[in-house]
Amino acid sequence: MGNFFPDELIDEIKARNDIVDIISNYIQVKSKGSSHKALCPFHNEKTPSFVINRDKQIFKCFGCGESGDVIGFVMRMENLDFVEAIKLLAQNSNISLEQYDTSDTMKREMVEKHALFELNKKAAVYFYNNLTKQANPALDYLKRRGLTAKTIKSFGLGYAPNNWHDLMHHFLNAGYSIDDLIKCGLVTKDNEKKKQYDRFRNRIMFPIFDVRGNVIGFGGRVLNDALPKYLNSPETSIFNKSNTLYGLNFARRHINDGRLILVEGYMDVIVLHQYGYHNCVAALGTSFTKGHLQLLQKYASEVIICFDGDAAGEKATQRATELLQDTRINVKVLVLEDNMDPDDFIKQKGKFAFEEQLKAAISLIEYKIQTAKNKWPLNTSEGKIQFIKAVVSIIKEIKSPVEREVYVQKIEKDFGVSKNVLLMEIYGKDGKQPVEKNQKYTSKNIRDNKYIEAVPLVEQKGHIIAERQLIKFLLTNPDMIAKIEEKIEPEDFLIGSYRALVEYIFSNYRIASIEPDHISVELPQLKESIKDILDTDIEFIDIAKTLEKYIINLKRYKLLYEQKELQQQQMSLIQNKKLNKEEVEKELLTIGLKIMKINTEIQKLQP
Ligand code: CTP
Ligand code: MN
Repeated sequence: MGNFFPDELIDEIKARNDIVDIISNYIQVKSKGSSHKALCPFHNEKTPSFVINRDKQIFKCFGCGESGDVIGFVMRMENLDFVEAIKLLAQNSNISLEQYDTSDTMKREMVEKHALFELNKKAAVYFYNNLTKQANPALDYLKRRGLTAKTIKSFGLGYAPNNWHDLMHHFLNAGYSIDDLIKCGLVTKDNEKKKQYDRFRNRIMFPIFDVRGNVIGFGGRVLNDALPKYLNSPETSIFNKSNTLYGLNFARRHINDGRLILVEGYMDVIVLHQYGYHNCVAALGTSFTKGHLQLLQKYASEVIICFDGDAAGEKATQRATELLQDTRINVKVLVLEDNMDPDDFIKQKGKFAFEEQLKAAISLIEYKIQTAKNKWPLNTSEGKIQFIKAVVSIIKEIKSPVEREVYVQKIEKDFGVSKNVLLMEIYGKDGKQPVEKNQKYTSKNIRDNKYIEAVPLVEQKGHIIAERQLIKFLLTNPDMIAKIEEKIEPEDFLIGSYRALVEYIFSNYRIASIEPDHISVELPQLKESIKDILDTDIEFIDIAKTLEKYIINLKRYKLLYEQKELQQQQMSLIQNKKLNKEEVEKELLTIGLKIMKINTEIQKLQP
C-alpha cells in the first residue's frame, strides 16, 4: 500500500457514492419513503433485517450484526482491502487518485536526498584528509586551541585549503557533476562571469550533521580575525539552519536526566565534549527558532542555556528564554563571568569550576530578576522603584501561587524589598492572593496526591495495543515509514522491546530488510515481541485515518507515565522520615512544577 489518503478524499468518495445506490448495484433494495431494506447479503435470511440509512450513509444488519459505511460494504462484498475499495469507489465516481499515490515522489525525493548526503560525506572526508594527512596552518590552529586528534576525528573537522578549485576539480575528476556540487553548496557560481569556484577557501571546516548523523552542510571558520568569521553552507534541500542543532546527533545519546546544555558556537560544543560534556548543542549562529525549540522538546526535559557572557549572548539568552518559557522544558540559565564563553571558561578554569557553575545555574524567573537588577541600580530610590516594578511584572507572569510565594520570599531575602510591599503591588491593596476556584497548585494537594490521578489500568492496556498496532502497520506498510518517522520517535514508545524494534525499523528500513523474520534473526531477543505484534489485528482499522490519533495517544500515554513517576518520587520523599523538612518541601515543589508543566503539555495534545 503506497497510499496515504487524507480525510477529505475519503469524505469526497463517500459523498459521491451514495450508499443506497451502491448497495442497489449488488442486491435488491426495497425502498419505502426514507426506509431502505434488503435481504442481508452477509448471512442467510428469509425476511429482510438489513437496513440502510441514507441520511447517515450507513448500513446495519439486525440479523447478523454486520454494519458499516459504503467503503465497508464494498470491502466486505468484493472482498477487498481498504485501499482497493477506495480505488474502486474512486473509479466509480471519476475521482483521480494520482496525486495521492505518494510513494513514487517520496522515493524519488529520498534518492535525491541520499545522493546529497553521500556527496557531503565525501566532501567531509576530503576536508578531513586535508587537515590531518599533512602539515597545514589549520591543524596548528586547532592544536593551539587545545583540540585533541580524537576530538578532531569525532567531529570530523577538516580544512579547505587556500585555493579556488581544489574541491571542485577533485570531485569533477571523481565523476560528480558541477550541478551536484552547486546543489550541495560546495561550489558557488559567479553570476556575471559565469565562473564556478569552491565556496570554502582557507577555512577550518565543521561538518554539520542531522540527528541521524548525515552530513547536511558545513560551517567554515577563518584562521585569523578576518570577517566573516564563519561561512556556512547555503540552505539546500537537506540543510535548514533553523531546524538544526549542531551536536544533537552526538548529544541525543547522552541526555542523562533529560538534560541538554544549549551553547552558542561550534567550538563550545566541541570543547565541552572534549571535557566530557557530551550533552551540548548549539543553534547555528541564527537566533533560536521554533524549529530549534521543537527539536529540544523532542529530546530534553531540562535545558541549561549557557551562551557567551557578552551583550550578544545576553540578547540571545533573552530570545531563547522567550520561546522556552511556556513549554514543558525546565529552563535554567548559566551566565559566565567576564564575557567568557563556555569554551574559554572551561579551558581557563577547568572542569571542576564549570561543574560548579552548572550546579548553580538559575531558574528562568531568577534570571529575569537578575537582569532587572543589573538594569536598575538599587542604591537609588528611582532605581529601586523601577526594580520593584520590573520584578512585580515578572512575578505576575507566574501562574502558580506557590511559585509566586517562593519568589516573593526570595526577593525579600536577597534584595531587602519588603514582602508586604511586593504583595500589595502584585495583588492590590490588601496584598492577598485571590482564592481561585480551582486551586490545583497548593502544596497540600501535591502532597495528598490528588493533583494527578494514577494512569488507569484500562489506559495502560489500550496503550500496549496501540503500540503494537502501530508497529504492525510499520512492518506491513514500509512505504509509509518515512512519513510516520517524521511524526513519532522510538522514545515515544513505552514498552522497551517495542521501542527497540521501532529504533531498528527507523534506522534500517532504507538500507536493509525489515521483514519480521529478518529482524528476528538480527535481534533474537525481540522474537517474542515481534510475534505478539504480528498476532495483532489491524485489518479492520483504518490506520490512514486514525494515525494522527494514535500518535497523539502514544505521546499522551508517555506524558501520563512521566507524571506517574514524578508522583511516585513525591511519595517516597514524603515517606522518607530522615530528610530535612524544608528540603523536602522544596523538592516537592520542584517536582510539583514539573508535573504541572506536563499537564499543560497533555492539554495541548488533545485535538
Ligand atoms: N556564526 C555564524 N556566522 C558568523 C559568526 C558566527 O554562523 N559570521 C555562528 C557559528 O555557528 C558560531 C556561532 O555563531 O559557532 C557563535 O559565534 P561565535 O561565538 O563567534 O563562535 P565560536 O564558535 O565561539 O567561535 P570561536 O570560539 O572560534 O571564536
Ligand atoms: Mn568562542
